[in-house]
Amino acid sequence: MNRFEDTKVLLTGAGSGIGRATALRLVAEGAAVFAVDLSGEGLARTAAEAAGPGRIATRVADVADEDAVVAAVRAAADESGGIDVLVNVAGVHRTTPIDRLTVDDLHQLFSVNAVGTALFCREALPLLPDGTGVIVNVASSAASHGNPYMTAYAASKGAVLGFSLSLAAEVAHRGIRVVPVSPGSVATPLVGPHVLPPDLDASYYRRIHAPFGTARPEQIAGVIAFAASHDAGHLTGAELRVDGGSHI
Ligand SMILES: NC(=O)c1ccc[n+]([C@@H]2O[C@H](COP(=O)([O-])OP(=O)(O)OC[C@H]3O[C@@H](n4cnc5c(N)ncnc54)[C@H](O)[C@@H]3O)[C@@H](O)[C@H]2O)c1
Repeated sequence: MNRFEDTKVLLTGAGSGIGRATALRLVAEGAAVFAVDLSGEGLARTAAEAAGPGRIATRVADVADEDAVVAAVRAAADESGGIDVLVNVAGVHRTTPIDRLTVDDLHQLFSVNAVGTALFCREALPLLPDGTGVIVNVASSAASHGNPYMTAYAASKGAVLGFSLSLAAEVAHRGIRVVPVSPGSVATPLVGPHVLPPDLDASYYRRIHAPFGTARPEQIAGVIAFAASHDAGHLTGAELRVDGGSHI
C-alpha cells in the first residue's frame, strides 16, 4: 500500500514506541514524515530504521515549549513544502496513588500530554489543506474508562480526548478530520515514576488485563495510519479505542 504517497506528515513522539512504529509505517507507505521528539538519540534510531518509498526528517523539540512548537511547525512546513497530516503521539506517564500525587506530577502530565497536543494543533491547523487535512491525537483508554493510580495521567488524556472531539466539531466546516486514538496497554518503554500502594490487591491487575494481551506498538501504528489515511475519509470526531478488549 502507498496510501501516503505525496503526503506530508508532522509526527510528534517519533523517538520511541508508538511514535517510532508510526513513523516507520508511514514512511513505508510513502509519506514524507517530519518527526519531532525530545530525544535526538531516539529520532536518530527511528530515521535509521525507516525504509522508503517515503522519507523522514527529524527535529529535536519539547512539545510543552510554545516557542519550540511554533518553530517546529514552521520548520516542518519549510522542509516538506506544507503539512497534510498532524499526528500527536508524544506523551509522558505516571502511576501514583492519590495521596502521593504532587503538583509537579500534574503540571508535567498536563503540559506534555494536553498542552503539547493543543499547541501543535493550533499551529498546524492554518497550514492543513481544506477537504483533506487530518489530525490524529493519541489519548488513552484510561481517559474514558479510568485506571486506579492513574488519576492525573487519565485526566491529562481526558483533556486530549475532549480537546480532539471539540476540535473535530470546530474544523468540520473546513473538511478537516480530527480523530483521537486511545490505546490500552502497549509494550513500549513509556517511562515514568511507577508508585503503587503496598496494599494493592489482584483486582488491580484484573482491571488492566486485556483478553487480547498487551499490544505491540505496530498494532497501534496500524490504526493511526488508518485514521490518517483516505480509507478513513468519513471518520471524524469519534474515538478509536484500541485496547485488546480490556473493557468488554
Ligand atoms: N504504552 C502504553 O501502554 C500507552 C497506552 C495508552 C496511551 N499511550 C500513549 O501513547 C503515546 C506514546 O507512548 P509510548 O507508549 O510510545 O511511550 P514511549 O515512552 O515509548 O514514547 C513517548 C515518546 O514521547 C517523547 N516525549 C516525551 N515527552 C516529550 C516532550 N516534552 N517533547 C517531545 N517529545 C516528548 C519521548 O521522548 C518518547 O520518544 C503517549 O502519548 C502515551 O501516553 C501509551
